[in-house]
Amino acid sequence: MTVAFLARVNLLRGVEPAGLEEWAGACRQKTYGRQETIFLEDAPADAFYMIKSGLVKIYRLTEEGREKILDVCGEGDFFGEMGLLDDSPRSAGAVSLRRVELLVMEKADFRRLLDKYPQVALNLSRVLSQRLRQANEQIQDLAFRDTRARIIRAMVAMVTELSLLEPGRDRIVLPLSHQELAGMAGTSRETVTRVMAELEKRGVVQSRRGSLVVNRAAMGDILLAGEEQT
Ligand code: CMP
Repeated sequence: MTVAFLARVNLLRGVEPAGLEEWAGACRQKTYGRQETIFLEDAPADAFYMIKSGLVKIYRLTEEGREKILDVCGEGDFFGEMGLLDDSPRSAGAVSLRRVELLVMEKADFRRLLDKYPQVALNLSRVLSQRLRQANEQIQDLAFRDTRARIIRAMVAMVTELSLLEPGRDRIVLPLSHQELAGMAGTSRETVTRVMAELEKRGVVQSRRGSLVVNRAAMGDILLAGEEQT
């Protein structure tokens, strides 16, 4: 049973049937009900898990106690390898989202079998590389959101100042090129152009040569949107 399942797991792709028997021999099965903690973030890491059925949520808690879901893993996925590879505590918590059947392997067996089956170590590196790629995308996205908020703040500050000079006007002309706004917000001209294109679509800004025409009525929306996205 376990061997038939392991033959379909990507992590063990390329392992001969005799090898799969060896991996199966090192696993024991464990079942969790709905919403049960498998391990908590920072707990000591002593086992590796493969999901035979069900769904597992991998998450971290922010300082304010809010949950950030890193991944939801399903049948054939694995988790809990990081702490075993670098001898550190769990980098995230794991909880069952519904009834889950897991194959659990002790740390010593996992390390021994990885040494013995370099193909599996390579498969594992492939999955870790994909995770790193995803994490890089998220970092870039977060950095862009911060920049977007800075650009909007710089623009709004100037609109507020000029509005005092010209009260009651719907449209405020900011005598700023994209390059100059970029300098104020501490970012590149290209990023300002991207953000301005988005704001133009929303009817908030019109870019002219060397200036920006801001629709004050629509500014409330971008302030809200700016906050949402930071
Ligand atoms: P470990 O640190 O031992 O325990 C938590 C596990 O969650 C970790 O091993 C990985 O298996 C998994 N994990 C951690 N971060 C991510 C992530 N960004 N995406 C997917 N899985 C992760």
